[in-house]
Amino acid sequence: MSAENKIIAVVGATGAQGGGLAGAILNDPDGPFHVRALTRNPRSDKATDLAQQGAEVFEADLDDLDSLKRAFSGAYGAYCVTNFWEHFSPEKELAQAANMAQAARDIRLEHVIWSTLEDTRRWVPLSDDRMPTLMGKYKVPHLDAKGEANQSFADLGVPTTFLMSSFYWDNLIYFGMGPKRGPDGVLAITFPMGDKKLPSIAAEDIGKCAYGIFKQGREYIGQTVGIAGGHLTGKEMAAALSDALGAEVRYNDVPPEVYRSFGFPGADDLGNMFQFKRDFNEYYCSVRSLERSRTLNPSLQTFEEWLARNRERIPIE
Ligand SMILES: NC(=O)c1ccc[n+]([C@@H]2O[C@H](COP(=O)([O-])OP(=O)(O)OC[C@H]3O[C@@H](n4cnc5c(N)ncnc54)[C@H](OP(=O)(O)O)[C@@H]3O)[C@@H](O)[C@H]2O)c1
Repeated sequence: MSAENKIIAVVGATGAQGGGLAGAILNDPDGPFHVRALTRNPRSDKATDLAQQGAEVFEADLDDLDSLKRAFSGAYGAYCVTNFWEHFSPEKELAQAANMAQAARDIRLEHVIWSTLEDTRRWVPLSDDRMPTLMGKYKVPHLDAKGEANQSFADLGVPTTFLMSSFYWDNLIYFGMGPKRGPDGVLAITFPMGDKKLPSIAAEDIGKCAYGIFKQGREYIGQTVGIAGGHLTGKEMAAALSDALGAEVRYNDVPPEVYRSFGFPGADDLGNMFQFKRDFNEYYCSVRSLERSRTLNPSLQTFEEWLARNRERIPIE
């Protein structure tokens, strides 16, 4: 790293998305950027590890605007992400995004990447009863709030790239979505996607795509960029899992209303999410170009490549 390197303040650097970006910058020591890793806990193992790799670790909290201003101070850009699954509150996501936008505006950052998703209410208004309205005014709370929060960045004139990621393959490891044995003893993955394609990606590749966007300077400012490492049907995912695990894995297609009734926290939100991806599949895939994702991140993994690296980490229940 040279003294002229531009600082990228990375929210979520200890997590999946921001961790991918922090890693991409750290693995390119001749590149133009330096990582400032934001965390609430600079003494955590992940933060300590980032510091040992050469990142500047900086304590900040998305709920605390002043801490964000300090963390963005002197930086060229920022990667902004919220973690819905920590609190299940769309209002909190909106407030945290507004804090990041305000801090970016006050510090006059030159480029912000906001990790957003669709506000599904543009496609499925609250009056559309194909899926239930959740939390009073959302169809897919963890998507809708991110999409609604785009306005915070736009209203303040923050030079922003709106990055729309995809379903993480890592959900098979961490999110309880791995293969499970049915009553017949055969493994199955369960999604309410019918025969439609699910855009999906290795979580670490999201940050690597973000790195590609930052490296292009101003080119993607003001643009919405969707990314994916594959567009796969449930059957295709099951076939790749069967090959990788050496055991038959089936695709269990269930109706969204059945998925919503599974009872785990967020099942209704995820059931609506999958239904949105199924019912608006042409749109949803079309804005997540595999070619552009690979241009941004030449090491973009396919599902098969990701499985070869991660199959032993997938819990089999
Ligand atoms: N799973 C999927 O398929 C998928 C697909 C697309 C989008 N997403 C979205 O991805 C988001 C989560 O991103 P991720 O997977 O990268 O998260 P993650 O791996 O669970 O890590 C969460 C990160 O957010 C940071 N963080 C959380 N609250 C914070 C706060 N108040 N102040 C400062 N930092 C905070 C944490 O930092 P510290 O703990 O170190 O402070 C940590 O680095 C969710 O909103 C989800 O909707 C998920």
